[in-house]
Amino acid sequence: MLTDKIDAALMAAAPRLKVISNFAVGFDNIDVPEAIRRKIPVGHTPGVLTEATADQTFALLLASARHVVEGEKYVRSGKWITWGPQLLLGADLVGATLGIIGFGRIGQAVAKRAQGFDLRVIYYDPTTGPAFGASPVDLGTLLRESDFVSLHVPLTSSTRHLVNAEFLSKMKSTAILVNTARGGVVDQSALYAALKSKRILAAALDVTDPEPLPVDHPLLELENCLIVPHLGSASHHTRDMMSVLAAQNLIAGLKGERLPNCINPEVYEQ
Ligand code: DGY
Repeated sequence: MLTDKIDAALMAAAPRLKVISNFAVGFDNIDVPEAIRRKIPVGHTPGVLTEATADQTFALLLASARHVVEGEKYVRSGKWITWGPQLLLGADLVGATLGIIGFGRIGQAVAKRAQGFDLRVIYYDPTTGPAFGASPVDLGTLLRESDFVSLHVPLTSSTRHLVNAEFLSKMKSTAILVNTARGGVVDQSALYAALKSKRILAAALDVTDPEPLPVDHPLLELENCLIVPHLGSASHHTRDMMSVLAAQNLIAGLKGERLPNCINPEVYEQ
């Protein structure tokens, strides 16, 4: 599972380890260089969770922009006395700008959905060309112009705490941050400060650091921070497909065959 840390110590303690099969596309929980050194193939589940994760991005974006969770709590707590012209007003999507950071499979699937909402889409990813009407921009421009900023980068040493105090200080004060990537991409202390001081309007997080987030975590005190428990790929069909890919990788590894979805093909080189 993505919550299992497969590090050098674990590999050293398992001398007969033949294969590592991650039940996820992300693999920041695995020490891949150490697996390469030990010639242990590592599998993951790319492609099959792209659409579900893009759907979840929009679920969070809309829920945050239109106060879905606050509205639900309002009804349940008996506060709903009448329809009100000023009640729980939120942000419009039409004509707003969505900034996507990381324009791989999931980032592009988010851009595709954004077309249907008449959002203007810009993205920051020096490695990928334009698609789905999205225009490439530098990070500064993206932060300055976006009403919604959505994160779709893997967690690596260069993306850890990409969203820090400086990043947040460049966002619009009316902007919403959406994270369906990895919790470690966000410096949560900086995010807490930015949300508490209303430096940015709101955040919607599918992922946190750590996971699970302790129930007394300061982010959970904030009304303008929506947090769900890493549900990006949590649809029946997607989890079925992830299970199949993870099992195929595991079986191939145990048979000594090449993994169908291998992160470290270097292990097959002589
Ligand atoms: C993944 O596969 O990396 C996802 O985060 C699981 O939802």
